Amino acid sequence: MLRAGGEAMLSAIALHEVAGSDTRLREALRAADLPTDDIEDDGRAFFEAVSRDGQTIGYAGLERCGGDYLLRSVVILPAHQGYGFGRAIVEATLRDVDGDVFLATTSATSFFSSLGFSEVSRAEVPAAVLSTRQLSSICPSSATIMKLNRPPT
Ligand SMILES: CC(C)(COP(=O)(O)OP(=O)(O)OC[C@H]1O[C@@H](n2cnc3c(N)ncnc32)[C@H](O)[C@@H]1OP(=O)(O)O)[C@@H](O)C(=O)NCCC(=O)NCCS
Repeated sequence: MLRAGGEAMLSAIALHEVAGSDTRLREALRAADLPTDDIEDDGRAFFEAVSRDGQTIGYAGLERCGGDYLLRSVVILPAHQGYGFGRAIVEATLRDVDGDVFLATTSATSFFSSLGFSEVSRAEVPAAVLSTRQLSSICPSSATIMKLNRPPT
């Protein structure tokens, strides 16, 4: 199958907010070995990506940390991986976000590098981001922390 370009993929999905208690969100994260312990805590927003023909493609989440954000819970369901949806869901989730965006990953560093994130040391990460449950207790200390590089304005 041919891969569509970024813009085409962006318009191929729509994001709908779902609650942290959504059972299909929990199952998708669990199946991908991503944290679920804190998804029902306050201060998180989760989105389901749906294709034009109504299929669930995957999920992404944002957690507010002071003026910054933690991008989390990015998962494309296995049947839909490799077609550009991962890039599309991240771009759609971050489209209206201002403030710095951080994430922690153990398995997808090169995926996020290709989207403009760079590895940062814990010393460079704001306290509000470091104290999220993802970074302080759930993610292994070996997780890579990354920050989105914004073009200079
Ligand atoms: C990581 C994940 C979201 C990528 O989704 P996807 O739809 O398969 O990715 P895309 O098709 O949009 O790929 C975008 C780019 O990243 C690359 N890429 C995709 N998955 C990758 C991975 N696991 N490692 C390295 N590179 C990857 C692709 O080759 C592509 O590069 P290109 O644009 O230069 O060709 C998906 O594999 C997934 O859900 N994995 C399990 C959960 C996970 O690890 N989430 C991230 C932690 S929060």
